[in-house]
Amino acid sequence: MTVSVPDTPARPRVLSGMQPTDALHLGNYLGALRQWVARQDEQDALFCVVDLHVLTVPEAIDPHLLRHRSRAVAALYFACGLDPERNVVFVQSHVPEHAECSWLLTCTTPLGWLYRMTQFKSKSEGRESVGTGLLTYPVLQAADILLYDTDEVPVGEDQVQHVELTRDIATRFNRLFGDTFVLPKAVIPTAGARIMGMDDPTVKMSKSIMAERPGHGIGLLDSPNVLKKTIMSAVTDSEREFRSEHASPGVRNLLVILQALTAEPMPEIEARFAGRGYGDLKKAVLEAVTETVTPIRERFDALMGDPAELDAILARGAAAARERAAATLARVKAALGVGT
Ligand code: TYM
Repeated sequence: MTVSVPDTPARPRVLSGMQPTDALHLGNYLGALRQWVARQDEQDALFCVVDLHVLTVPEAIDPHLLRHRSRAVAALYFACGLDPERNVVFVQSHVPEHAECSWLLTCTTPLGWLYRMTQFKSKSEGRESVGTGLLTYPVLQAADILLYDTDEVPVGEDQVQHVELTRDIATRFNRLFGDTFVLPKAVIPTAGARIMGMDDPTVKMSKSIMAERPGHGIGLLDSPNVLKKTIMSAVTDSEREFRSEHASPGVRNLLVILQALTAEPMPEIEARFAGRGYGDLKKAVLEAVTETVTPIRERFDALMGDPAELDAILARGAAAARERAAATLARVKAALGVGT
């Protein structure tokens, strides 16, 4: 049986997703979600809540909480402006083809490629026992992407390595078993692709650190008081006033956040704050963040007030995603000689 890769469509096919580990933060918004929303008229897009990826850290599994968080992250997608009429939005585990495709790709992926992933190295570092899922995590991510003949994957900088691995997995599969997969590429934003921690600008803002350290991240659902506390106590440096040539990582992070939120060119921002104290810069960041997250929080609360409607949207999304995923999976199985 011959298999063929579909022609390149007029509108790029897009897929991306987020883990429902906790409430989302400003890095998730600026690195990924905002680009999803901004380009929703120009693309044929699917966005998933990747709950199966959360299982790769079994200590963190709380079944009740996971179900709630999956729904909450979907609600946040919508609250940030993603339109369920123009995009397919679904929960990964509602489309069983992801797990099945992941196994087929696991069998064709060299182990060495997975050991090289920086996320695996950092997450497994210093741990006595590491689950297999943590190692094979990027193969499931590759399945997420490849099942939809994805051209573009809008993500923050930290996910670029996983998208490149997906490309390698697809290229190798196509070489071994014939043209089956479309090769995807990562798309990262020009500003905000890597937002750093407010309490420690040497590490990226992350949901897992946020859960342990208040003051680390800017949560999209944080109250005005928490936002103020986090931003006004952001780590800067011992200088009194801003000088662009000496901006420390903490100051640079604040500038990047401001640039990403206001779209003001960096030289103009630097000129505006030259010679002024860091307090002024932090106040401007607080104002821009508050303006962005306040309507998101309000829309989120309204959406979470109607769980039946949310579930109905996600059920429609899963049905639409399944139809497409099943077609690709049939191609993959045919190429391998399995299935009916
Ligand atoms: P996750 O859930 O860690 O992050 C979701 C998205 O947010 C981006 N991001 C950031 N961007 C800028 N600054 C930050 N500090 C920051 N932190 C996170 C991430 O780059 C990501 O775009 N493995 C993925 C989820 C995934 C996926 C996929 C993504 C599973 N399957 C298929 C794309 C396509 C992850 O853990 O993202």
